[in-house]
Amino acid sequence: MLRPKISIIGAGNVGSIIALQVAQKELADVVLVDVVEGMPQGKALDMSQMSGILHFDAKITGSNNFEDIKDSDIVAITAGVARKPGMTREDLLKINADIIRKSSASIKTFAPEAIVIAVTNPLDIMTQLVFQTTGFKKTKVMGMAGILDSARFAHFIADELKVSPKDISPMVLGSHGDTMVPLPRYSTVSGVPITDFMKPDVIKRLVDRTANGGAEIVGLLKTGSAYFAPGTSVAIMIESILKDQRRILTCSAYLTGQYKLNDVFIGVPVELGRNGIENIVELNLTQLELEALHKSAGIVKKGFDEIK
Ligand code: NAI
Ligand code: 2OP
Repeated sequence: MLRPKISIIGAGNVGSIIALQVAQKELADVVLVDVVEGMPQGKALDMSQMSGILHFDAKITGSNNFEDIKDSDIVAITAGVARKPGMTREDLLKINADIIRKSSASIKTFAPEAIVIAVTNPLDIMTQLVFQTTGFKKTKVMGMAGILDSARFAHFIADELKVSPKDISPMVLGSHGDTMVPLPRYSTVSGVPITDFMKPDVIKRLVDRTANGGAEIVGLLKTGSAYFAPGTSVAIMIESILKDQRRILTCSAYLTGQYKLNDVFIGVPVELGRNGIENIVELNLTQLELEALHKSAGIVKKGFDEIK
């Protein structure tokens, strides 16, 4: 049987980590596509040469031709401009919207059966744009952010408590930005909610750091944004889909009444399987949590209206 095929549009930092993880885990063959000539080919060759060291079977190719995404099972879009210090995600809106429209048009033409994972920022708005431009089913278009935001929350909790991150099960909803909604009472250490044993002011400090998690790394890197954890988060989504694991992961998904929200992409827990979003999980939220989620969705709607 042929291996599944994953294409990644945008062979920059995040795209490269996705490619590497997918190949190393032997999930699929990988095609990296970018507008910069030679770069995706060079990275693909470099990564392919790792296969002899790490002994993985996966074909990695680089290309400047969008036709090479043909018949992909999944396409991840990381093409765009990364955030620089002082730049908000919304500053990126207009430049990246254009890139997303072009990428989506190529996917529609060459990989009409693919599941699409958007990564480009501002994430939830770009995911909605992919949905609109491709016209694909709502179950087949999703955005990656919640896994990353949750992973950051988990790291801060583990670091604070000096326990293994393996035992942290975090929960962060909302749009990928500073209005995201970390949910302390649904975030547990070995099944025990952190609200049972951490002081509110400590939780608030970790929540605030999570909400500004991307900006903190941008401030340190100065010439780009995070890519190790973001690329890995996408690979985890790809794995859950291709292996039909049906893991419950927070992804940006199109809501049609869930959480009393309509016609908007926002981070919520979903079941990820071979058909894409198999199910949207509706948590019982307090009035305050629901209001925070609606505020976050309002930012997405406003941003999407600006590019419509
Ligand atoms: P990068 O600058 O390293 O890579 C972007 C790549 O896109 C570049 O190689 C560029 O040549 C390519 N590109 C630009 N226009 C293109 C087009 N029309 N077709 C194909 N390729 C094109 O940036 P990085 O760090 O990989 O980030 C990529 C995007 O992902 C950014 O928008 C960033 O803000 C976003 N991001 C989102 C995260 C999330 O949680 N959703 C996390 C981290 C990054
Ligand atoms: C991040 O959160 C920039 O969205 C990217 O790291």
